Amino acid sequence: MTKKWWHDKVAYQIYPKSFYDSNGDGIGDIPGIISKLDYLQDLGVDIIWLSPCYRSPLADEGYDISDYYDIDPRFGTMADMEQLLAETKKRNMYILMDLVVNHCSDEHEWFKKACEDPNGKYGNFFYLRDKKEDGLPTNWRSYFGGPVWEDLPGTDKQYLHVFHKKQPDLNWENPELREEVYKNINWWLDKGLGGFRIDAIINIKKALPFRSYEPDRADGLCNIQAMLKEAHGIGEFLGEMRDRTFKNYDAFSVGEVFNEKPEEIPDFIGENGYFSSMFDFNETIFGSSEKGWYDAKPITPDNYKRCCFESQAKIGDIGFLSNIIENHDEPRGVSRYIPEGDCCPQSKKMLAALNFMLKGLPFIYQGQELGMENVPFTSIDEIDDINTLDEYQVALDAGLTPEEALKAVSRFSRDNARTPMQWSNEPNAGFTTGTPWLKVNPNYPSINAANQQEDPDSVRNFYKKLIALRKNPDYKETIVYGALTPYLKDQHNLMSYYRKGDKTLLIIGNYQKAPQTAVLPSDYKQILLNNYTDLTQDNLTLTLLGYQLVILEL
Ligand code: GLC
Ligand code: CA
Repeated sequence: MTKKWWHDKVAYQIYPKSFYDSNGDGIGDIPGIISKLDYLQDLGVDIIWLSPCYRSPLADEGYDISDYYDIDPRFGTMADMEQLLAETKKRNMYILMDLVVNHCSDEHEWFKKACEDPNGKYGNFFYLRDKKEDGLPTNWRSYFGGPVWEDLPGTDKQYLHVFHKKQPDLNWENPELREEVYKNINWWLDKGLGGFRIDAIINIKKALPFRSYEPDRADGLCNIQAMLKEAHGIGEFLGEMRDRTFKNYDAFSVGEVFNEKPEEIPDFIGENGYFSSMFDFNETIFGSSEKGWYDAKPITPDNYKRCCFESQAKIGDIGFLSNIIENHDEPRGVSRYIPEGDCCPQSKKMLAALNFMLKGLPFIYQGQELGMENVPFTSIDEIDDINTLDEYQVALDAGLTPEEALKAVSRFSRDNARTPMQWSNEPNAGFTTGTPWLKVNPNYPSINAANQQEDPDSVRNFYKKLIALRKNPDYKETIVYGALTPYLKDQHNLMSYYRKGDKTLLIIGNYQKAPQTAVLPSDYKQILLNNYTDLTQDNLTLTLLGYQLVILEL
């Protein structure tokens, strides 16, 4: 594998609206991020992915962009952005922006011009169809509920939006649109970005000509996947984008890729792939249901292990996965992957290490390093996220009571991850001096950065040790490039694997509250990391305490 500058890095995702508010308006902002760079540097972070902070009506919290060349005033100014780039550069850090080009906002000037003249240049930037008396052009259901078609204001046409109606899809079949996208990417790379996280990208290729598919719910609509499965040739767009942009800057790109076919993986992230890396969502999608969130199954430790190993085996030496336990679209990883009632510093550290030591690029989502947990929502009115509001309705339509529906969607709500970052035990977790845009998780007096920075045994300091281990010159080669082989794969509630390079490491996690024994393949040289102070051992048999995790050098 050709070595790349980003292989040995550690990445951190910031959701700007909820990270740190510098001016008391209740909304996180870029100056707030700048003021926390030392915190991130102290943790050991190199690459920062910013969720969108472009000009936007924030209908989908910034994933609906109305100007790709501007910063939304709520987040700051272009000068702030330039200062952030300069300050990160000083610290040898890199900024990734979010590239949201499957769709723009209905408030983007392209869309306004398309409304004025649907048959003109900008009409062809979107997917427009004549409005019909007898129904919609197709029966596809949008990701956020309801049909994907909406009237194009002031015209006799309708436009396609696979996400929210305020997110009209861009027509990638049109070379003029593609040129605009490349121009924008290069403009930002010229400003000094390290690269991009690429949003919702599998949606850019549509199966043409459009047609309806078998309905899969009582609403008579079908999941958008039915169409995407038939869409071939996305590689032409992605390869062109790579060649016209990222490649010329040696930029890092990580794709939000779902449902890729195994034979396509080399094209996506192999040598000269479309992207540098792509996220592993195998654990995330486990248990999801066609019917909706209310019908989704929780994941067990054994399934979590299986999902991780499946992805690792699938990728092998082809390229680099980006590993996550959560992001801004998911509930908190500790609340999801640790059995209910068992969240504690030990189990959080175990999960952290099991994920962090996988082969690939580790991404930490803001607050993950503190072990931030899901929110105890008490009313649907506390929820801002459009996805959750739709899933709540889906649950009600399926016959759940409002209480049951709230409980069901609370488990998966994207707002679990979007509550303000918990900096301290001051009011509003020290996130803002004003009123936070989204309620702070009430557990902030006990879970916050200030406490954890002082406590050598905190979850945060454990993350810091994990990061330091990845960067330790003695182990770096093995942790970054070493092969991953599962160990004691079938032992219940135990997750263990080797990383073999110039050193041999064994990672062992007792994924349950009760102690359990595990037999080592051979004696070890030293313990590199342990989430307890001791390790009980009798010859080659370890007795691991509840959620005990050790990283051993054999
Ligand atoms: C991606 C983003 C998500 C957004 C969607 C539409 O999945 O991560 O937050 O809602 O795309 O842009
Ligand atoms: Ca602010």
